[in-house]
Parts: sequence; C-alpha cells; structure tokens
Amino acid sequence: MNLHFTEEQEYIRKMVRDFAKNEIASIAAQIDVSDQFPLELIKKMGKLGLLGIPIPEEWGGVGADFISYIATIEEISKASAAVGVILAVHTSVGTLPILNFGTEEQKGKYVTKLAKGEMIGAFALTEPQAGSDAGRIKLIAIDKDDHYQLDGSKIFITNGGVADLYVTFAVTDPTKGTKGISAFIVEKDTPGFTIGKKEKKMGLHGSNTTMLHFDQAKVPKANQLGQVGEGFKIAMSNLDGGRIGIGAQALGIAQAALEASIQYAKERKQFGQPISTFQAIQWKLADMATQIEAARLLIYQAASVHQAKGNSTKLSSMAKMFASDVAMKVTTEAVQIMGGYGYMRDYPVERYFRDAKITQIYEGTNQIQRMVIANQLFK
Ligand code: CAA
Repeated sequence: MNLHFTEEQEYIRKMVRDFAKNEIASIAAQIDVSDQFPLELIKKMGKLGLLGIPIPEEWGGVGADFISYIATIEEISKASAAVGVILAVHTSVGTLPILNFGTEEQKGKYVTKLAKGEMIGAFALTEPQAGSDAGRIKLIAIDKDDHYQLDGSKIFITNGGVADLYVTFAVTDPTKGTKGISAFIVEKDTPGFTIGKKEKKMGLHGSNTTMLHFDQAKVPKANQLGQVGEGFKIAMSNLDGGRIGIGAQALGIAQAALEASIQYAKERKQFGQPISTFQAIQWKLADMATQIEAARLLIYQAASVHQAKGNSTKLSSMAKMFASDVAMKVTTEAVQIMGGYGYMRDYPVERYFRDAKITQIYEGTNQIQRMVIANQLFK
C-alpha cells in the first residue's frame, strides 16, 4: 500500500485545508450556536467543486479519486464536523448511489446538479422501528402502473428539509425480506411527501436532521433506482464508502482536538510552568497523537481498497469504528487537559466532544460495525 499522496491528492488536500481554514473555521462556532444550516457556505463549496470531488467530470464533478474525497472530508471536519457530515452524506450516500446504480437519464438529471452543488442530496434508510436492523424497514412502495405510491416515515435523516432529493429505500415485496427492498429517487416537491420534525441534537448543530413523511407519495417510475429488489444491496454497498467518510469526519474532529490541546498545553501555566512540561499531560498527548495516526492509516488503507474497487466492507467498518472511538477518546482527553476551560463554550473542544459522539452511532453503530467485521472474518 502506498501511503504517500500523489501530487493531485496533495493539491486537493491543500486547497481544501486552506478553504476550511479561511472560510469555515472562523464561522464554525457561530454555526454551532445558531444551529442554522449554512446554505451560503454549502453553495460556495458547490461552486468550488467540493460537492463533487469523486464524481467524473462528464457528470459535472471534479473527477478526483476517492482518497482525495476522503481527505476533503477530513479537512472540512477539522474545521466543522457539521459541515463535514453535510458534505459526506450529500456525496457518499446522496450522489454516489445514483452514479453507481442510476440510468444515464438519472445521472444526467441529478448527478450533474448534485456534483455542482446545484442540488443537495440525502439518504433515507432509517425508520423509527428500523435503525440497526435496516433490513426491517416498513416504508411501503406500491406499484401503481405509471408510478409508485409510498406510505410510511423515515427518521434521523441528515440534510432533511434542505435536500433537493432523497435516495429512499422502501419495501416493494414484503414477502422477500432484504430482497424485497427497492431504491427510489424522491424529489423534495413530490406530491404526498413532507418534511417532519427537526431534531434537537447534542452536537452537529447546523446539520439538519429531520423526519420524512410519505402519505400516498407519488414517485414516478422513472425515479426507481437500480432493479426492483436491489435496494438493500444499493444501501449497503454505498455505506461501505460512506463509513470511510464518517471515519474521516471523526479523524478531522480528533486532529482538531489534538491541535487545540497542544496549543493550550504550551500556553497554560500552573505551578509556575507551562502544563506541557508535565509528564501527565505529555503522555496524554502522546497517546492521542498515536491513536490518531493509527486511525489515519486505517482510513486511508480502507479508502485505497475502496478506490481500487476491491471489497472494502471489512476495512470500511474497521476504519469507521476505530476512528470514531479514537475521536471520542481524544476529545474526552482534550476536555480533561483544558480542565474547566475545556468544559466552556468559549473554547472549541467542548464542541468537538459533542460532535465526536455521533460518529460512534450513525452510518451503523460501532456494535453493528463489529458484527459486519466478524461476518467478514468468517466468510
Ligand atoms: N455490499 C453489498 N451487499 C451487501 C453488503 C455490502 N456491504 N452487505 C450486505 N449485503 C447483501 C448481502 O450479501 C445479502 O445478500 P445475499 O443474501 O444475496 O447474500 C443482503 O445484503 C442481506 O445481508 P445481511 O444478511 O448481512 O443483512 P442483515 O439484515 O443481517 O443486515 C446489517 C446487515 C449489517 C446489520 C445492516 O442492517 C446494517 O448495516 N445496519 C446498520 C444500518 C446503517 O448503517 N444505517 C445507516 C443509516 S445512514 C446514516 O446514518 C447517514 C447519516 O446520517 C450520517
């Protein structure tokens, strides 16, 4: 495995790092406090191509590779994890399923706009009674000859209410289990489709999370994605890439927390000297940096296998699980190093701590990732 970035990957990483530093870091706290979706920023990112990094140029994207995309999420999330997840969900599971499984017509109609940020994408799998057990969704899609009629609800949908389209999973044949699930592209103004309650979250303020309601929603046949019965496979295979993205989001948060801790330790004086001179602090920082480096290696290894179109299922779950656990440990230590100041909203580590928690939960809890890894080990 080549751990060195190519010139192009390095160029993209630097461009994104500069953008995140200049355009996002300064407003990240404000996004957190206001809990308002940063539409203007997302539109700016779209114009720069950041919403279409791994999408081929023929479909309106930058045409860069998956590793560059993962580096983009890492850099953006270092400045704001909320912006990181908006980008990750839009791309990994809002756009790539259409690129990978859509017809030429669907790609022309949607992917080109999603890649340029002219549309925002979302992914609607989770339901109130089907979170970890995604194969038991109940949203029903009835074939009405010229369209599908969808009835039911989705919950915890990232980019809900701000997305222009939702890659939605529904049951077309309740007798067939996961093979009875199909995927649909649901546009926001579909008759019978409405946005439900906006959730109030512990962290990731500024990233919208809502319910979705389908009441005899009329989805055109042309918006069926992939084959009938192929929906679960579409969801799972795109989550393979998505989970690496969430790992990169966690990595960005952890890196930001480490950097804030180092800076604070150098400046903060107690007992007549900077706290960076105390072994108790040095050992915490050494452990944090080592865990981050290990997470980074796993993430980019998973990304390189995914990019080479190999089976990344096991590595994707490992990367997501490990990096998110690291983010939680590192942000916890960052708060501890900063003591009372770490607990206050005046410093960003309190936000990093709140934002880190969800990375252990969404795109499959870390317990589900262990199930996936174990299943792969026995194959
Ligand atoms: N790629 C392709 N196909 C896959 C696959 C993959 N990675 N994983 C499973 N499949 C296929 C299997 O091969 C199987 O098909 P066959 O019978 O033909 O072999 C079929 O799907 C069913 O697989 P399983 O028997 O493994 O399915 P299961 O019901 O046991 O569920 C699970 C597996 C891993 C628990 C799954 O339900 C899961 O991932 N749960 C977590 C849900 C999740 O991650 N939700 C994320 C929501 S999106 C989100 O969070 C976005 C956000 O906001 C940030």
